[in-house]
Amino acid sequence: MLTALAINNYRSILNLVVPLGPLNVITGPNGTGKSNLYKALRLLAETAGGGVVNALAKEGGLHSTYWAGPEKVSKRMRTGEVPVQGGPLQEVKRLRLGFATDTYGYSISLGLPTPSRSQFKLDPEVKREVIWAGDFFRPAAMLVDRNGPMARLRQGREWEVISQHLPSFDSMFDQLSDPIAAPEIMHMRELIRGWRFYDHFRTDPDAPARLPQLGTRTPVLHHDGRDLAAALQTIREIGESEALDNAISDAFPGASINVCAQEDGRFSVEFYQHGLLRPLTGGELSDGTLRYLLLVAALLTPRPPSLMVLNEPETSLHPDLLPALARLIIQVSEKTQVWVVSHASRLIAALSESPDCHRIELDKVLGQTEVTGQSMFDEPAWHWPDKG
Ligand SMILES: Nc1ncnc2c1ncn2[C@@H]1O[C@H](COP(=O)(O)OP(=O)(O)O)[C@@H](O)[C@H]1O
Ligand SMILES: [Mg+2]
Repeated sequence: MLTALAINNYRSILNLVVPLGPLNVITGPNGTGKSNLYKALRLLAETAGGGVVNALAKEGGLHSTYWAGPEKVSKRMRTGEVPVQGGPLQEVKRLRLGFATDTYGYSISLGLPTPSRSQFKLDPEVKREVIWAGDFFRPAAMLVDRNGPMARLRQGREWEVISQHLPSFDSMFDQLSDPIAAPEIMHMRELIRGWRFYDHFRTDPDAPARLPQLGTRTPVLHHDGRDLAAALQTIREIGESEALDNAISDAFPGASINVCAQEDGRFSVEFYQHGLLRPLTGGELSDGTLRYLLLVAALLTPRPPSLMVLNEPETSLHPDLLPALARLIIQVSEKTQVWVVSHASRLIAALSESPDCHRIELDKVLGQTEVTGQSMFDEPAWHWPDKG
């Protein structure tokens, strides 16, 4: 389980360390940085997927994603006694992302490229990556230390250099994941790769989820939901079939679903509703109903990830469906750590009924994302390996 997420200099987030629980709900008014927090987590996930530099470039590079405010926001700037101003830079520009689990922590620092003849002048560079034991970084707890092109691994009391030629555009996860030589790197990479994000399901009239699709056993719903019917049938056969039925009837009393496999191997969903003489098929479902089915298929996966992230799951859902969705999320969060970004008050209220619900309410003060009500003492201990 992730116990903390730390972000430094990413968009509206100058400095944030948020404690995480089994069920985390990120809320706050528009423009306070919910999506930025989500994107930072996603970016962190890209490091293990082999594309952090690319992902950052797609977002406009380091220049655009870097915190646009002053390095330090003083007390007098906050009270308005002095205007917000930059002053000479004290520190090197670094975008830092990190997280802690019960056992290990990881952080990555990205910076501007050193001047060279390369045409890729805007490509950020991976400057430092560290894996440590325990819940926050201490020099003595370092297990793996990547500094520029060089990576070292701790072997008992000694450090062993395991690479001297890491490309600046690759994370160490891309290059060093020999399970025998560097089990810590491999372990961390697999952990991060297991995080599952659901951001935007397609429910438009041409959405693949509405059409019969060739199906194979599908323990993990595709992120756009194209294999919905196969995923639902997989839950029926090897997953929690009863929970599936309950989730449907909780939201639509008296309704049920059936997955139909045709001769040619195509699967489609049939939705039986009280009062109708025939079931509705994918193409006939309302956006909201289809989206609810997609969320159910995602959440009841027979292969639960260590972390499941749902970005604004309320989009186009009828508000009446939100309490049922919340009950399902709460149920899932008993086994999987869940992270929900939402501004739907009914969903937030229903999720808050769970004693495990950890609400992270964001606010923006002088352009900076802050956690409402979080004082220095609530903040998990955190140190960046490359920051004084
Ligand atoms: N590089 C940046 N530096 C500072 N603030 C930024 C930067 N990029 C975006 N922002 C701010 O982030 C805010 C958007 O945050 P976002 O996460 O989309 O909010 P929401 O909570 O609505 O999802 C905008 O108001 C914008 O001012
Ligand atoms: Mg947003």
